[in-house]
Amino acid sequence: MKFFLDTANLKEIREVASWGVLDGVTTNPSLCSKENVPFVDNLREICAVVPGPVSAECVAMRFEEIVPEARELARIAPNVVIKIPVGLEGLKATKALASEGVAVNMTLVFSTSQALLAAKAGAKYVSPFIGRLDDISEDGMGLVEEIVQVFENYRFGTEIIVASVRHPRHVVEAALLGADIATVPYAVMEKLVRHPLTDVGIERFLSDWKKVSK
Ligand code: G3P
Repeated sequence: MKFFLDTANLKEIREVASWGVLDGVTTNPSLCSKENVPFVDNLREICAVVPGPVSAECVAMRFEEIVPEARELARIAPNVVIKIPVGLEGLKATKALASEGVAVNMTLVFSTSQALLAAKAGAKYVSPFIGRLDDISEDGMGLVEEIVQVFENYRFGTEIIVASVRHPRHVVEAALLGADIATVPYAVMEKLVRHPLTDVGIERFLSDWKKVSK
């Protein structure tokens, strides 16, 4: 499974890139609003640091405006992926952009039918929002399971980005289901590597090492 970092924060991106496990980054307007730097400059720097796709979201809502906005974003760096919210206008734009070779990540996916249409329109990625479904007592991972099945049935090449990840278990379940990618916030990324028994084990080894005759 590929690991994307769900952030627009350069410090976090540099840190996780240094761990050697970073495959890409996803941003969105809410994440960008937390950074006190001009959007385009920040995106350009992120793209230079990340050895893979970087999603940047269109805010235009009509086909005629989404397409030029997407083209402009795509010119910022070769690894920019255009994030477009799923909907009729977004689908039309995805079809047009995909035929020009622009990679699209259809976002805010909350149903299997939305994912199916995104794949048919030519989206390179779909982003089901798992945590937000769990937040309203729905089954986020059940949605991922269905999308995996549908994409397998019809051999769609569209990759599934499990998004709105809240905790390490979401990441493990995404991997068990065979999702292509999990996009993970920095705080969850850190938790993935920790285990209290590992800490206790290291402590014990180090204190016993002091007793070894050298
Ligand atoms: O990339 C977008 C998605 O991961 C948002 O997550 O935590 O705002 O539901 P969240």
